[in-house]
Amino acid sequence: MGYTNIEVRPMAPNIGAEIFGADLGQAMGNQTFQEIHDALMEHQVIFFRDQKIDLDQHKTFGRRFGPLAIHPASPGPDGHPEIVVVHADAETNRDAGRIWQSTHWHTDVSCVETPPLGSVLHLKTVPPVGGDTLFASMSKAYDALSDRMKTYLDGLTATHDGERVWRGRYSDQGIDDTGKVYPKAVHPVVRTHPVTGKKGLFVNAVFTTHINEIPRDESDDILAFLYKHCTKPLFQVRFQWEQNSVAIWDNRCVQHLALWDYFPATRTGYRVTIEGDRPV
Ligand code: SIN
Repeated sequence: MGYTNIEVRPMAPNIGAEIFGADLGQAMGNQTFQEIHDALMEHQVIFFRDQKIDLDQHKTFGRRFGPLAIHPASPGPDGHPEIVVVHADAETNRDAGRIWQSTHWHTDVSCVETPPLGSVLHLKTVPPVGGDTLFASMSKAYDALSDRMKTYLDGLTATHDGERVWRGRYSDQGIDDTGKVYPKAVHPVVRTHPVTGKKGLFVNAVFTTHINEIPRDESDDILAFLYKHCTKPLFQVRFQWEQNSVAIWDNRCVQHLALWDYFPATRTGYRVTIEGDRPV
């Protein structure tokens, strides 16, 4: 792909690139945005350094990709319901909503009918060491399956449920979710990316409860195999954050996991999530 306004440096052969020459806080011309979009489609997750953006600039940039989603469980800061706060410090409990989901391999909010297109995460405070995020390509993981396994998975659907992920997990922030109904959705186990046309695995250990068309014990074993396969280092890139780094991932073909190896240090950032479409 040709890039004239930005520089794109791949970080691993299968996924991930670092982008130079873009200021995400400034009004951005269509050509530059198109190149950033192209780089995201090509590399699935892209990274920027030294982006001093506030919440409004963050939202404005996120909206270049499409309307922003409101998270079903995580409360945003005052006046910014579209922002998800990512935070851990010496007080953080391992079951707390903000940390539990992030520290297990997942696709963001896959339990809704139209899971997010992608996310833009900006870290403001980073620990002295640690707190890296790992990203894995679900299209590369799918491609590496045997033809027999691809045939087996073809046409299967899986249930994704927010209940077990979010129930009670924001109580440390004073959220009482008694009576709240969390979203639940059925999606194909293999989805086709709406832009690139590539097939990718679309099950994850956080939200997916079971494959619908097979017995539960078989589903458990197939999902266990797929989760092990999906997260092989071969399909991954690992990002070391600095203050004001930004990561943008394509949630339709990427899973991620944030390492919480820096306790009791503090790590804080903000995420916007872009609305997506129904997986097919
Ligand atoms: C997330 O899961 O959206 C947060 C990832 C991170 O904290 O690196």
